[in-house]
Amino acid sequence: MDGKKQVVFSGVQPTGKITIGNYIGSIKNWVPMQEQYDCIFCVVDLHSITVSQIPAELRKNTFDLLSLYLACGLDPQKSILFVQSHVSAHTELAWVLNTIAYVGEMNRMTQFKDKSRKHADNINMGLMDYPVLMASDILLYQTDLVPVGVDQKQHVELARDLAQRFNSRFSPTFVVPDCLTPKVGAKIMSLQEPNAKMSKSDVNENAVVTMFDDKDAILRKFKRAVTDSDTEIRFDKENKPGVSNLLTIYSAFSGETIQKAEERFAGKGYGEFKIAVAESVIEAISPIQSEQKRLAADKAYLENILKEGSEKAERIANRTLQKVYKKVGFIPKLR
Ligand code: TYM
Repeated sequence: MDGKKQVVFSGVQPTGKITIGNYIGSIKNWVPMQEQYDCIFCVVDLHSITVSQIPAELRKNTFDLLSLYLACGLDPQKSILFVQSHVSAHTELAWVLNTIAYVGEMNRMTQFKDKSRKHADNINMGLMDYPVLMASDILLYQTDLVPVGVDQKQHVELARDLAQRFNSRFSPTFVVPDCLTPKVGAKIMSLQEPNAKMSKSDVNENAVVTMFDDKDAILRKFKRAVTDSDTEIRFDKENKPGVSNLLTIYSAFSGETIQKAEERFAGKGYGEFKIAVAESVIEAISPIQSEQKRLAADKAYLENILKEGSEKAERIANRTLQKVYKKVGFIPKLR
């Protein structure tokens, strides 16, 4: 070991409203990593247009997400924060990786199949290529660790496969990254259908709690959360998915272990339990919300962070891209 810190890379799409699932599965876990690793966090706008977006909304969502990153505790002094489309190496490396990714393996990607079902009128090439662009994001920075929710594990696996394939076809070029999923909250479920993932794109508003919901909405949504006809508050994913999901959310926001939470709520009714879960969420996200609002109003500050972030990211990304171009046989561009 030369004492060099390991590299962490992750990102969130600026689509719609970021959910508490996104927060618990990703952003929340990134914050402490800043102390230990060289962290790079991206707002992945290129990925977001694989599903149709309204341009003005995409612009607003991009700034909103960056300010949410900051409000949650990501610090531009410690981490590189940038927007994916500002660093053209992402799409350039994706093109090269496309030539070693097989149509068969892309066709098998669970998220591609899901999104193709949901957006049957817009099954575009970008949607199919989404995981290759994600591999490019990761591999450009010689990433060691990718902290994500469990739904992204298959995509990180593909990044590993492509790294290994390129390394063996040419010569060692990429670090082979590891996927890091949280012990608690790697998959937060819908409040209405506790066997399905909580998803930004859910049409049922009551199924999803967003990081932008006000107190009344949060309370209302948790009060309506689906549980079961039993009365016991206990963690049992298989038989009590709704209650287990609420316990997970409570644990993630209160910091208490699930076991401790089970003891706390033993003998209590579901009504009281749901209110306590809502309150733990409100207590944790209210200060984030006010900070996010304050930061979102300071466009010049945000733009400056993006400018500095993309310059730093570009330096690292271009180094990897030039190596790749050389290895595949492209002649160098004279400057
Ligand atoms: P996105 O925006 O769909 O999701 C962002 C992060 O949130 C996690 N997540 C969840 N975690 C727990 N419970 C849930 N219900 C839940 N829903 C979403 C996701 O796993 C993810 O970590 N493709 C990525 C974005 C991306 C990326 C990358 C990530 C693009 N390039 C490179 C890491 C490295 C995504 O899922 O975005």
